[in-house]
Amino acid sequence: MEGFIKNSKCFCFFFVFLSVLLLFSSTMPAADAKVHYHDFVVQATPVKRLCKTRSAITVNGMYPGPTLEVNNGDTLVVNVVNRARYNVTIHWHGVRQIRTGWADGPEFVTQCPIRPGGTYTYRFTIQGQEGTLWWHAHSSWLRATVYGALIIHPKEGASYPFPKPKRETALLLGEWWNADPIDVVRQATRTGAAPNVSDAYTINGQPGDLYNCSSKETIIVPVDSGETNLLRVVNAALNQQLFLKVANHKLMVVGADASYVKPFITSVLMLGPGQTTDVLITADQPPARYYIAAQAYASAQGAPFDNTTTTAILEYKSAPCPAKGLTIKPVMPTMPAFNDTATATAFTTSFRSPRQVKVPTDIDHNLFFAVGLGLNNCPPGASNSSCQGPNGTRFAASMNNVSFVLPSSFSLLQAHQLRVPGVFTTDFPANPPVQFDYTGNVSQSLWQPVPGTKLYKLKYGETVQVVLQGTSIFTAENHPIHLHGYDFYILAEGFGNFNPSTDTAKFNLVDPPLRNTASLPVGGWTVIRFVADNPGVWLLHCHLDVHITWGLAMAFVVENGIGELQTLEEPPADLPLC
Ligand code: C2O
Repeated sequence: MEGFIKNSKCFCFFFVFLSVLLLFSSTMPAADAKVHYHDFVVQATPVKRLCKTRSAITVNGMYPGPTLEVNNGDTLVVNVVNRARYNVTIHWHGVRQIRTGWADGPEFVTQCPIRPGGTYTYRFTIQGQEGTLWWHAHSSWLRATVYGALIIHPKEGASYPFPKPKRETALLLGEWWNADPIDVVRQATRTGAAPNVSDAYTINGQPGDLYNCSSKETIIVPVDSGETNLLRVVNAALNQQLFLKVANHKLMVVGADASYVKPFITSVLMLGPGQTTDVLITADQPPARYYIAAQAYASAQGAPFDNTTTTAILEYKSAPCPAKGLTIKPVMPTMPAFNDTATATAFTTSFRSPRQVKVPTDIDHNLFFAVGLGLNNCPPGASNSSCQGPNGTRFAASMNNVSFVLPSSFSLLQAHQLRVPGVFTTDFPANPPVQFDYTGNVSQSLWQPVPGTKLYKLKYGETVQVVLQGTSIFTAENHPIHLHGYDFYILAEGFGNFNPSTDTAKFNLVDPPLRNTASLPVGGWTVIRFVADNPGVWLLHCHLDVHITWGLAMAFVVENGIGELQTLEEPPADLPLC
């Protein structure tokens, strides 16, 4: 008896020891990795811009929302409480979410929305990403005001691959509507017409002093002469690609979408919504005040756009003070023309990975997606008021002629995991159903896409190439194409129709940039590659919210591989249900 007790104690001790050991080795990422806890309360908040106050949906009453700062390898635990009257979800744009697809956030894709009064806790770990990402609502157009920066520093003790900047400033570019953006999109959906454009662009939530009423709130970025600072630029605008310049200053690009790049110098940035760009700026000009200005890169011919200019001010601390009663205007940069595609292209084709990378070469899935707008004829019996698009149509958009429709009874990920039939099909076409001169004069018979919830299935570890081919249906334009759950290599881009027999020669298989959002040139193509090493359901879509509203999306379903490390985690207990 005694002996048994002794043994049992001993066994117990051993068991505890083993559990502690297991706990540390399996669930604790690394000795110095941290867990960051945050509460996000989504709520209606009065916000005053352009002399008018309206109720805007915010996180914790802040617009933009809180900046999250972590180190590579850290874990985030964000408890979201929905006190707004709309459904909401939060997406962590660009976070790989390896095995944690339940925390990715797109409404009806990886989760059902958090209903008014509901809560959901997002848990995920940053693995191998450094630089600037951001978070935003992924439900209707709520991201107009529900967004913020997610800054990922190198691991504790590690350093940047460039001299440590004196200061770091995140610059989030956004769009402001005098009307409630949810009303704007609801009206567009009702009428079938294009939605109204924004009333202002913003930098960190402020339009800047070229608009009425905002001179006192203009964002100031202070600098000391001679120092080099890091600007983390995010395009969080809803529907517009933007050029950004700083008067008289050169910018050295060092990162994009939380991957480092081979540094290059430019005087102008172009970011599509979803993209981030990290730049070093040296205060090497005479002490003064210089505008940081952003305005549209509008590539669609004849389409209306917000042609205003948002500004912040780069202010040398030793800048001479103006005499009393006088104001000295900051120096304004000369902006590119709104349709300056040459400048946009010169910028997007300057990106390289810092060194040689392992680009997948044996391709399992060679896909070709025709990407663009469409116009649906007025459905029989519909009233004129619901067909206010061009010539009595309704606006639409598609990939390979499928106009993506979200489910409503289950999220796609849930339906996949639980094998619920009837929520989606896996017959998304690998090629356009009809081949045509994509960027030519497209016959009107090809303008009407077919609605559907079609996914494309991938086995764990398969290699994928996608030729994204823009179309000139209705009008050609630049599309920022974003893939959830992955970073991809951009091998090449070009104008016109992709030609497999000549354009493959342009592929950069040595040091292509790694991104989560590609800028598909207006009337052109982009080729991306990735390895399907993250099980789950992952949305691929245009990051112009107006286009995703019209169906410019599809999703990949990536199956589990072998063993725990290649398998999607179990859904969290508090996952919202539909
Ligand atoms: Cu930043 Cu699906 O989005």
